[in-house]
Amino acid sequence: MVEQIVKPIDSIIADSRKQIQPYVFKRLESRRPRLPGKKIAKVITITSGKGGVGKTNLVANMAICLAQAGRKVIVLDADLGLANIDVIFGIRPKKNITEVLNGTCTLEEVIVPGPCGVQIIAGGSGISELAHLNPEASKRLFSELRLLEDKTDYLLIDTGAGISQNVISFCLAADQIIVVTTPEPTALADAYGVIKVVSQQREDSNLWVLVNRAENQDEAGFILNRIQTVAWDFLKFRVQHLGYIPQDKFMYLSVRQQTPLMLFSPMSPAALQIRYIISNNFYEKTTENDVNKNEIKGIEGFIDRLSRLWNWEKA
Ligand SMILES: Nc1ncnc2c1ncn2[C@@H]1O[C@H](COP(=O)(O)OP(=O)(O)OP(=O)(O)O)[C@@H](O)[C@H]1O
Ligand SMILES: [Mg+2]
Repeated sequence: MVEQIVKPIDSIIADSRKQIQPYVFKRLESRRPRLPGKKIAKVITITSGKGGVGKTNLVANMAICLAQAGRKVIVLDADLGLANIDVIFGIRPKKNITEVLNGTCTLEEVIVPGPCGVQIIAGGSGISELAHLNPEASKRLFSELRLLEDKTDYLLIDTGAGISQNVISFCLAADQIIVVTTPEPTALADAYGVIKVVSQQREDSNLWVLVNRAENQDEAGFILNRIQTVAWDFLKFRVQHLGYIPQDKFMYLSVRQQTPLMLFSPMSPAALQIRYIISNNFYEKTTENDVNKNEIKGIEGFIDRLSRLWNWEKA
């Protein structure tokens, strides 16, 4: 059984903010100001070939980190077989995405507030293939998703592992894909499998690799270079480096306490590294003016691509 949270979440959040304040917020806020124009939410899918490599924890901590820097974040648990992001966040949602697909409630009713203002859409089990949804359910999903565009800066999608049609579709439809791997050869081989499928189906995919549970920067650098080289040599596909997260015992403890690491132990090695990655790569909000420049199409683009992939009529 998972232990109960000992400290109230509000005081954990306040403590973590106090600890990281001098280090992060000034640096983040000094970056480029937001450009004017209609807001576009950046859609990022986080996936892996092998299971258990740290996707869900990365999503939860990315979300908290972005929220602590003043960004609006919605997390969608799209691991439709083994959804569990609510457990990592220590929340107990009463409704999940299945109810939206069934038409028994709206997406807004399903979204639950998590720590630091992160909004969470819990996943449900028993949805086998979204591509086989009936037209009514798909239309409902599209029109509900569209409402999120101006409510958020980031839509982070946590998928299951592997190359099922659901997972690959969420990758192909997103503005950016993060493939998580550990240094183990099995995880690397499976990460390559995902990269291969994605690159074959959409050669302009914006795909980044992150090495989790690395011993040190050298080990991670070696692995990232190897993936990049193999992807280029065999697939002629450009993979980008997102960086690494070190092996950190506080990660395990944070999962046990059902409190994301960023709050449980904000100065631990993995938390510092996640914050470093986020502040360097994900801080800037996207507006209409950025869309042409950097290929970010937001939730509308996500819906467009999904409907093409699954031959759905747009709602
Ligand atoms: N950087 C890290 N250091 C130490 N342990 C870690 C680290 N990252 C993840 N873990 C451990 O790995 C476990 C699995 O993580 P997580 O649930 O995020 O993986 P996942 O990829 O989402 O798994 P699944 O494929 O089942 O969805 C965590 O419970 C945690 O104990
Ligand atoms: Mg997971």
